[in-house]
Amino acid sequence: MKIIAPSVLSADFGHLADDLQMINRSKADWLHVDVMDGTFVPNISFGFPLMEPMRKYCTKPLDVHLMIVHPEKYVERFCDAGAWSVGFHLEAVDDPMPILDMIKAKNVRTCLTINPDIDVKRLIPYLDQVDMVLLMSVFAGFGGQKFIPETMDKIRFIKEEIEYRRLKTLIEIDGGVNTQNAAELFAAGADALVAGSAVFGAPDPEEAIRIMKK
Ligand code: DX5
Ligand code: ZN
Repeated sequence: MKIIAPSVLSADFGHLADDLQMINRSKADWLHVDVMDGTFVPNISFGFPLMEPMRKYCTKPLDVHLMIVHPEKYVERFCDAGAWSVGFHLEAVDDPMPILDMIKAKNVRTCLTINPDIDVKRLIPYLDQVDMVLLMSVFAGFGGQKFIPETMDKIRFIKEEIEYRRLKTLIEIDGGVNTQNAAELFAAGADALVAGSAVFGAPDPEEAIRIMKK
């Protein structure tokens, strides 16, 4: 699968509806929604008040990435606010299972995420429990960072495990994705690529999306 999920974090919030209409017209598959709490990550982005206009103006599924402590307190509200998938960080919780169950009970797709310094093997026990795993290819917190090359081997490792067990779990990559490395990431086994600055910072964002999907 070759899914492109532009990250709204890099959009122009003064003209959000325009940027969302561009996404609607484009070949993008999902809109990636980065929620940061200033505690799990050293940055604060936005929360529920922006879910409403995004759901209203965006025709693409909302792929919500929670970079927050205590995701158990908020996952249900994000489901109710119109999330198509809800992901949270494995390293932010003691036991992800009850939180995954809360999301599943809302009939929303589940995603488990890890930062680059978390051993990718920690995802293995959950591969058959989630719809998707998200490997961060930069440290969560900011857009516009440089892709960490070690991510490539992690993708291959997880892909092999998923295929060996004949699972349908998707692999999403987030951070430093651009028109230069997208093809290589898909070839390594990624199913979905998040791209913020490479889309919204491009002279022609729709063209950038098209190139990444190729
Ligand atoms: C980083 C976020 C990413 C970010 C990606 O914490 O999770 O989704 O928006 O931005 P780029 O594509 O610019 O690295
Ligand atoms: Zn993200």
